Amino acid sequence: MNLRQKIENLELRQANLAKGGGEGAIDRQHSSGKLTARERIDKLLDAGSFHEYDMFIQHDAREFGMSGKSLPADGVITGTGNIDGKPVAVFAQDFTVMGGSLGLMHARKITKILDYAINMRIPVIGINDSGGARIQEGVNALAGYGEIFYRNTAASGVAPQISVILGPCAGGAVYSPALTDFVFVVENISKMFITGPEVIKTVLGEEISQEDLGGARVHAEITGNAHVYSKNEDECFEKIRELIRLLPANNSEKATSVECSDPLCNKINEIIPDDASEPYDVRDVIGSITDHSCFYEIQELWASNIVVGFGRMNGETVGFVANQPLTLAGVLDCDASDKAARFIRFCDAFNIPIITLEDLPGYLPGIDQEHAGIIRHGAKMLYAYSEATVPKITVILRKAYGGGYIAMNSRHLKADFVFALPLAEIAVMGPEGAANIIFRKEIAEAENPAETRKQKVAEYREKFANPFVAAGKGYIDAVIAPAQIREYLLHALRVAKNKTTVTPQRKHGIPPF
Ligand code: HXC
Repeated sequence: MNLRQKIENLELRQANLAKGGGEGAIDRQHSSGKLTARERIDKLLDAGSFHEYDMFIQHDAREFGMSGKSLPADGVITGTGNIDGKPVAVFAQDFTVMGGSLGLMHARKITKILDYAINMRIPVIGINDSGGARIQEGVNALAGYGEIFYRNTAASGVAPQISVILGPCAGGAVYSPALTDFVFVVENISKMFITGPEVIKTVLGEEISQEDLGGARVHAEITGNAHVYSKNEDECFEKIRELIRLLPANNSEKATSVECSDPLCNKINEIIPDDASEPYDVRDVIGSITDHSCFYEIQELWASNIVVGFGRMNGETVGFVANQPLTLAGVLDCDASDKAARFIRFCDAFNIPIITLEDLPGYLPGIDQEHAGIIRHGAKMLYAYSEATVPKITVILRKAYGGGYIAMNSRHLKADFVFALPLAEIAVMGPEGAANIIFRKEIAEAENPAETRKQKVAEYREKFANPFVAAGKGYIDAVIAPAQIREYLLHALRVAKNKTTVTPQRKHGIPPF
């Protein structure tokens, strides 16, 4: 064969492999509302930027008793490409080839991509659509998963890892995403479980649909396993591209700043009600602080009493952690603590400054929370904020009571800057509860207990529930007007740009996980 014929032969081989599991399987994929692995990669990456590797990988069909079965590309498409010109590593499991199940060579292709992400220090995006360990390959499939988990852990905190769940994902196909930083799910398409409904019925006699067991809503709203929820695949890929634009490529990169001439946040006066018991949406406050109201929310549907996500301040990506007065008055509970702690650790690992907006009555009391382990979960926030060495800035918008005051990046956990609005109330507990305890005798013995109680609450509020006691001790750096927030934050970010922190040498800490 001459060169031209060899090239034709190559193109023919490539075209055959690109058909994956064949037309019938592709039609089934499309009719269940899903794109194929290659179509997904095309949607995700900049046009024409995908470079595929290991297309010709073959498994040994005879060794695994599958002679006669051809598994194009061994059921996973791998390579590198660009998102807005930024290089990323990518793999997409091909459900049309044996249900995207994972055998040894399939796993080797994925571990090679994860090694690229670690060594080249670029983000990695894994598109999961897989029945889990390929049953016929036995321990080799399990070995493959183990090697993937090892690399997910090695890549953690080195380069951002994104998992996309686009099909029924079982077993190892969900444990690898759980080790990554962000899990994206799509309505009606994503399913995640360690064992599917059939196994559950056999072992436990329980009956449940795939959707009710581990559908997109279940993981976005109830379990917190998913971080970003989309209505369809197109929306999902656009959201991944948006996130990649916000994140640094690795743990030694930092987003560059550009001046942004957005007007100062003079709307905050209108957003936050004077009455500390009235709710408002803290996302409106974030939107009036960031460049062009940019805010990318993470885990929007889960533990909504705390809001976390990325925004831009003069072009620089910052992480926001904010109590949400719209839900449970913004209290901290087990899920909110888990959500915030993980986000704080991500920001810290990737040099992203953290801005904390505080307005909460404290940690949520109650038997349910105590028995769910609020001590252990709540401690994660204390740990995450204390451990973080990126610039940490807090604005106390309104209430800052008890353990909540300490946990929300207080000066005592080494916040770099703490600002408070004049509305701020900083104390061990709210005026109502405090007056009942410290003036109990006087209220009980008064001629008109209700009137005395009212007076004592007002007295307490005047004396303790304001920002000036904390400002008098230097626990907050400045009491500022709402319209000054953005300017104070931008200045603090500039001042803290080259922050360095010396911590005692250790192998690693032991967070309360
Ligand atoms: C081999 C598999 C497979 C698997 C699916 N297929 N899963 N082949 N090993 N694990 C094949 C099917 O035989 C079928 O082949 C094709 O993929 C499509 O699968 P269907 O069942 O027809 O599709 P669907 O009805 O959509 O159901 C998808 C599914 C179901 C829910 C994923 O296939 C399923 O329950 N699979 C098994 C899930 C599981 O228990 N996996 C092992 C987990 S243990 P044909 O030839 O008919 O097209 C694990 C260990 C690691 O992963 C744990 C680490 C901690």
